[in-house]
Amino acid sequence: MQYIRYQEQDLLCEDVPLSELAEEFGTPLYVYSKNQIVENFRAIKAPLTEINSVVCYALKANSNPAILALLAEEGAGADVVSAGELSLALKAGFAPGRIAFAGVGKREDEIEYALKNDICIFNAESTQELQLISLVAMRLGKKARVGLRVNPDIDAQSHPYITTGLKENKFGISAGEAFAAFQFAAGLPALEVVGVHTHIGSQIVKVEPFIEAARFVAGLVGKLREAGIMVQHIDFGGGFGVQYVNVLTHEGLPHENPGATPPPPGDFVGAILPILKETGCSIWFEPGRSIVANAGVLLTNVLYTKENGTKKFIIVDAGMNDLLRPALYDAYHQIVPIKIATYEHEKVDIVGPICETGDFFARDRMFAKVKRNDHLAILTAGAYGYVNTSNYNARPRPAEILVNGGKVRIVRERQTLDQLF
Ligand SMILES: Cc1ncc(COP(=O)(O)O)c(C=O)c1O
Repeated sequence: MQYIRYQEQDLLCEDVPLSELAEEFGTPLYVYSKNQIVENFRAIKAPLTEINSVVCYALKANSNPAILALLAEEGAGADVVSAGELSLALKAGFAPGRIAFAGVGKREDEIEYALKNDICIFNAESTQELQLISLVAMRLGKKARVGLRVNPDIDAQSHPYITTGLKENKFGISAGEAFAAFQFAAGLPALEVVGVHTHIGSQIVKVEPFIEAARFVAGLVGKLREAGIMVQHIDFGGGFGVQYVNVLTHEGLPHENPGATPPPPGDFVGAILPILKETGCSIWFEPGRSIVANAGVLLTNVLYTKENGTKKFIIVDAGMNDLLRPALYDAYHQIVPIKIATYEHEKVDIVGPICETGDFFARDRMFAKVKRNDHLAILTAGAYGYVNTSNYNARPRPAEILVNGGKVRIVRERQTLDQLF
């Protein structure tokens, strides 16, 4: 079900009109639907009920403490990539035995912190890192459970900045060196080599690259076992793509060509599972975007409209400091008025207030004719939105709201000017 939707001319999050939230809490404002998050998580978990599995939420997508607590309560594990994320996960109530620590550059103090907190597994990305984990574990008198992140050299057909499984990417251990790295790890005194980890990229909209990666991983598990390295765990990463284009339709909105429409996240899992299940391993996934992206919107206010020669601009009060994805990846987000007041459209650029030409949300896009103080919603902003906010141009970070039915909760206050100093 879509929890952010139009009811006649008004955009709602669950039962609450977004116009009311924009008026009450001001803009820019992140608003999340609690029930959308829960439903997305359950859809990914549903095909996995009969096997030994954990759906680890990737905190990097959105680490608001209220969202973390919600997912911990749902029984999610956590995929963390820093001591900061680990600390958030522990405080939010994720069981240490369901926490995986990934990342290409773990520091010694972070490894120590994770070992002291008895996390389930380190997903290691180089032989030097394996050595360091073993040294720190030995010093603490512990055994560290490790998986090796293997880079299968598969093209995820996503944006180059979020493709991680090609051999030219910095992530993981290359397919050709994986076997030797496992043998090396198995010989280190304070490590228990339990599994294989892979994550081929983010915002992948087709199942084929995942199927290819699953075949690779299953094959590697077989080869390792033949050599006496008895891995029993596969962490298959995340990366399930979501829809950013033509998310909402309404007769008052211009038509958007949706292009490749990703399947629902449960279908990705359903396609991969038969291959991974054959190995008899426990199976973990690490989705981030597919759990939170469509549960969030960024509300913004129209400050000015203007024409420069041939171009029309809508200048809004949110900027790249509030939502970096368009500036960083040229990412597309559907943008809609939170009250449809006209069916007339014109071609515009929608831009923020930051002193950068790259500070844009839409270019040459057909959009409803708007005026000063109209409110707009930037859709599918729940993932890689707030986590990438900054104080660039000394702009305070926005507030965050969680909606549950008709109930509204501030889950992060807007930063104040005093907090900037
Ligand atoms: C190792 C790892 N796991 C999981 C994720 C989450 O990916 P997504 O948000 O696309 O599901 C990422 C994101 O880059 C990642 O690097």
